[in-house]
Amino acid sequence: MKIGILTAGGDCPGLNAAIRGVGKTAMLEFGMRVFGFSYGFSGLIDNDYQELTENQLSGILTHGGTILGTSREKPFKKEEKINGNGNGNGNVVFTKPDRIKENYKNLGLDCLVCIGGNGTMKTANLLSQEGLNIVGIPKTIDNDVWGTDMTFGFDSALQSATDAIDRLHSTANSHRRIMVIEVMGHNTGWLALYAGLAGGGDIILLPEIPYSEDLIIDCIKSRYAHKKPYSIVVVAEGIKHDPKKTAATHIADVIKEGSGFETRETILGYVQRGGTPSPYDRVLATRFGSYAAELISNHEFGIMVAIQGNELATIPLSEAGTQTKMVDPGHQLISHARFIGTSFGD
Ligand code: F6P
Repeated sequence: MKIGILTAGGDCPGLNAAIRGVGKTAMLEFGMRVFGFSYGFSGLIDNDYQELTENQLSGILTHGGTILGTSREKPFKKEEKINGNGNGNGNVVFTKPDRIKENYKNLGLDCLVCIGGNGTMKTANLLSQEGLNIVGIPKTIDNDVWGTDMTFGFDSALQSATDAIDRLHSTANSHRRIMVIEVMGHNTGWLALYAGLAGGGDIILLPEIPYSEDLIIDCIKSRYAHKKPYSIVVVAEGIKHDPKKTAATHIADVIKEGSGFETRETILGYVQRGGTPSPYDRVLATRFGSYAAELISNHEFGIMVAIQGNELATIPLSEAGTQTKMVDPGHQLISHARFIGTSFGD
């Protein structure tokens, strides 16, 4: 069999481990040929690919980023066809999916493996509906892909975020300050929730739980009244905030103005996406990759690999590509965090 592989969306630690897992299993166990497309769906549209050798997959397990490159290209986004006179009244056309189908067919692919997050699974589902054989592999530091307990990348990002919060504790304590730390997470608060718990956050703000500014200020004041000289506030980038500011700046300003306490903000940003994958992510990405190749050898397509409990599973792309896994405000993690006195600003 001949298979294509691409990595799309924001990068994360573990992508190379997944490429290696797919490629080595496909070549060594099933005798397949493996073609790597450059920069996500852009490479598939532009027919920019190379056949991968087993040697190229050696030594990449521990490397961050992706040897294939990635992009946020969305081939199903409508394109406006401009009329000859350039007045913009042309038809809306979908040329990119056609080019993808043509390139897939000309290369004689039996399947395309799409490694990515929510956006990628959406595109993977649409390509599957267009008749291509697709297997998805979920990755993202946001851990918000539907149908899997865990995406690889999340654990490594959690480690980086937790390390950063640990360091902020001592400086916050020395200065009796409020530290507001912003972690990534488009629309979901998984990383903020876990990093907040692991880093001993006193207040954790998630997009899924609407907060009250007054309650945040009350909580900070009450900590001072109870002789707690500093506070750690962990916020997800996706919380509701003044669009002219970052989430962290917005919350820091609210606290400064409402309490009068010295407050500083730190935005962790892309540091969370870089670097070496954690052992957990290396193992998960390897399992996902190897399982994807095994499924392809069994001609199982139109699915995403997943982990549920500690067992590998599959889920239809029609489900994974159409929903987002949000934090349930009734989640056990949240109730137990509340038991130990963590505030969610509500
Ligand atoms: O990879 C997911 C993510 O890290 C989000 O949490 C974040 O909002 C987004 O990517 C930003 O990435 P980029 O600037 O690459 O689009």
